[in-house]
Amino acid sequence: MEVRERIREVTLKIFELYGERMRLVNSIARVKREKGLPVRDREVEASLWEAVKRKCQEEGLNERNCERMFALLISSSIEAQVPKSGAGAHIEIFRRAKAMEREGRKVYHLEVGEPAWGPPEEALEALFDSVRKGEIRYGPSTGLPRFKEAASRWVSRRDGVDVGPDSLVPTPGSKFALFALMSMLTDKGDRVGLIRPTWPGYLGIASSLGLEVVSAEEDFEALRGSRVIVVCSPNNPDGRVLSRSQLEELVEVASESNSYIVSDDAYAELSFVERTPVTKIYERAISVNSMSKAFGMTGFRIGYVYGPKEVVDSLAKFLAVTVTNVPEFIQEAAGAALEVGEKHLAQVRERLSSMLRFAEENLKNTKLEFKRPDGGLYLFPRVELDGFDSLQFSRELLEKKGVAVAPGIAFGPYPDRIRVTFASMHGYEGIPLLKEALA
Ligand SMILES: Cc1ncc(COP(=O)(O)O)c(C=O)c1O
Repeated sequence: MEVRERIREVTLKIFELYGERMRLVNSIARVKREKGLPVRDREVEASLWEAVKRKCQEEGLNERNCERMFALLISSSIEAQVPKSGAGAHIEIFRRAKAMEREGRKVYHLEVGEPAWGPPEEALEALFDSVRKGEIRYGPSTGLPRFKEAASRWVSRRDGVDVGPDSLVPTPGSKFALFALMSMLTDKGDRVGLIRPTWPGYLGIASSLGLEVVSAEEDFEALRGSRVIVVCSPNNPDGRVLSRSQLEELVEVASESNSYIVSDDAYAELSFVERTPVTKIYERAISVNSMSKAFGMTGFRIGYVYGPKEVVDSLAKFLAVTVTNVPEFIQEAAGAALEVGEKHLAQVRERLSSMLRFAEENLKNTKLEFKRPDGGLYLFPRVELDGFDSLQFSRELLEKKGVAVAPGIAFGPYPDRIRVTFASMHGYEGIPLLKEALA
């Protein structure tokens, strides 16, 4: 019994020491934040592990168990320094909009990134044909030849690079690809560099993988030391296309720490200005593509990734152990869409331009201040009203006019802005109502 009592005491002592360690972690975290130092310092960790290993040997302990306890301590230190982010203000608006629809109210969706157009007819025909032919079984995670060939031809032309089908893999949407790549390329506590304003999807991914987020708007210095830097050009929400010289600056920052650049090319086909593909100027760049935006295939859940072969191979393995494969009939549909891509895109670009013109004409001379986006589906105007609060405004606009927009705070420190999907299927009705609300 005495021994049992002693075990209890020692166990409680361990937790007392754990508490003391966490208090120390919190004070060092404050210093790191003030000095802009990264959460993880691998050299410090390695030297601490060496000392722990020696101690474990002296005590005659099982090394594997010591390793597990050590990993637990390191991971709780990281968790204390990398805050979890919530669902986000844009999700609140989206959920409320959906709830209002269920109550039978008419809602104009200008808050989501869903374009007015759908896929080309050929995609639907290919989908039905494929299902009828019985292509409804498991398939290889690396993808089907028709899709891979069409996609590699498409991006080779679009980006002016030579992409072979073996350097490309289909994914169930590009968001999943971003998640998969981030989890493959980083360890908990690593830095991920983002450019502001930022699509909130990246924050959700970083938060669920326990990554430290650093961000920069113009000066990319703050992104040094990132394991992965994410670029989105044209950007969601502000439609900015980074110039070649800005990208070269970014590449210089990335190469110094051997970082990967993940180029989120969701809007690559929807640029009004010339854009430089990052994959053209940096070896460690990975291009993540979506069929959701230019091809209007949001519900099909298909995207694709091209980049260094070893990354693409690992991604195919990641798919094999998670989703197995993108359904073959979906790949057939997307392959058919890409095969008629030039024709489809000419129509889409015309529609995009006329919807942008409509939004500009309606929203000029209102309290919204914005410049023409370089590309994409959105306007990200500043609202020139005293004490404007983007979330409060978005809530009220939804309740009073049934118009849903995304509040600026969802994209970073932008409480004076809102994001408006001018190319939404509700654009022609919703934008005049937004104008009325601002009158
Ligand atoms: C910048 C950006 N990346 C990725 C996605 C995800 O697109 P999907 O998963 O439909 O391919 C979106 C969707 O809104 C986006 O805006």
